[in-house]
Amino acid sequence: MKKIGILTSGGDCQGLNAAIRGVAKSLYEEFEDDIEIYGIRNGYAGLIYGDIKKMTKSDFSGILTLGGTILGTSRQPFKMMRVIDEKDQIDKIKNMKDNYRKWDFDCIVVLGGNGTHKTANLLSEEGLNVVSLPKTIDNDVWGTDMTFGFQSACDIATEVIDCIHTTATSHGRIFIVEVMGHKVGWLTLHAGIAGGADVILLPEIPYDIEKLVALINKRESAGKNFSILAVAEGAISRQEAAMKKKELKALRASQSYPSVAYKVADELSKHVDNEVRVTVPGHFQRGGSPCAYDRVLCTRFGAAAAKLIKNGKYGNMVGLQNNRIVPVPLSEVAGKLKKIPVDCDLIDTAREVGISFGD
Ligand code: F6P
Repeated sequence: MKKIGILTSGGDCQGLNAAIRGVAKSLYEEFEDDIEIYGIRNGYAGLIYGDIKKMTKSDFSGILTLGGTILGTSRQPFKMMRVIDEKDQIDKIKNMKDNYRKWDFDCIVVLGGNGTHKTANLLSEEGLNVVSLPKTIDNDVWGTDMTFGFQSACDIATEVIDCIHTTATSHGRIFIVEVMGHKVGWLTLHAGIAGGADVILLPEIPYDIEKLVALINKRESAGKNFSILAVAEGAISRQEAAMKKKELKALRASQSYPSVAYKVADELSKHVDNEVRVTVPGHFQRGGSPCAYDRVLCTRFGAAAAKLIKNGKYGNMVGLQNNRIVPVPLSEVAGKLKKIPVDCDLIDTAREVGISFGD
C-alpha cells in the first residue's frame, strides 16, 4: 500500500483542482486502488503543522471545472524556510520531515510555481520523495514551455482588453490595462497580441515614455483617436532599469502610485491630449474555471506525475517541452526564472504587425 500526500502552494490559479484530480485518478489506476491519498492543507503550512487528512475517491470527483483549490493554499516564503520562528520556536524543515515520516508517506506531490519549487527541491535534497507540477498564471517556471493556469488567465486578460477596446473607441481615450505576471511578461505579451493592443510594455523590454508619446501622436495623426496599452505589472522604464535596486525602491516609495499602470498613465497624460484611463483586472485573472487547454494540460501533467511515482522517479517536476511531457530534475528548476527571450519569434511577430514595446 502506497501513501501519497498532495499539496497546492503559492498563489492559486485555474486548473489546480483539475491537476489534483488528474494525479489522484491516475494514481488509483496505476496502483489498482492499492493506494491512500492524503490532502495536505494550505500548502507547506499543512506539512509544517500537520494539517493533513485522508482523502477518498469521491473527493476527486466533480472538481475538473472547479476554480481555486480544494486543498487550500498559502505562501510560505522560501527565504524563511530555514529561519526558526521566534514566537513558537518552530523549525519548519524539521517539522515537514517529521510529519512526512509520521504520516508514513512514500512521496508528496507538490503543485506550485517558482517559490514552491525552491522548497520542493530543498525537501528532495533533505531526503523526501517529491514529484511536482508547474502551476502559475505567470508561465515563468523554468523547464516547462507551459504552466497550467496560464492559458485560462490569458483568456480572461484578453477579454478585458476586448471589452476595453469598445469603450476606448467610443470615447477616443487612451486605456492602460495592467496585466499580472509578476517579474515576467508572458501573460501581457500573449493577451496583448490576442486582444490587439497597440502597445505592450514588458519587464523584459524597458520602455521609453517619449517613444510612447510619439506613437500615440502618430496614431492620432493617422485618425486613430484611441490607443490600448497592455502593461505588465512588472513593466519598467529605461531610467528605472538603469537604477540600482535600492534606488529604484526609494523612487517608487516616493512616488506612491498604486501600481505601474498609474505611473504610465500619469507620465502619458502630461504629454497627450486624450484622456487616459487605467483598468486593473488583478486577481480576476486567476479566478473561475480552467479553459479547455488547461484541463487537458492538467490531466496530462497529473497522469505523468502518477507514472513517475509508479516508477519511483522522484525528485522531478513534470514539464512540457516541444509538446512532449518530460521529467525535469527539481535541482534544475529551482531558483531559475523563465523570462521572455527578447529575440523570440513572438516578439518579432508583434513588431511585424506594428505593436510597439515602447523601446
Ligand atoms: O504568481 C501569480 C500572481 O498572480 C502574480 O501574477 C502576482 O504578481 C502575484 O501572484 C500576486 O500575489 P498575491 O496573490 O499574493 O497578491
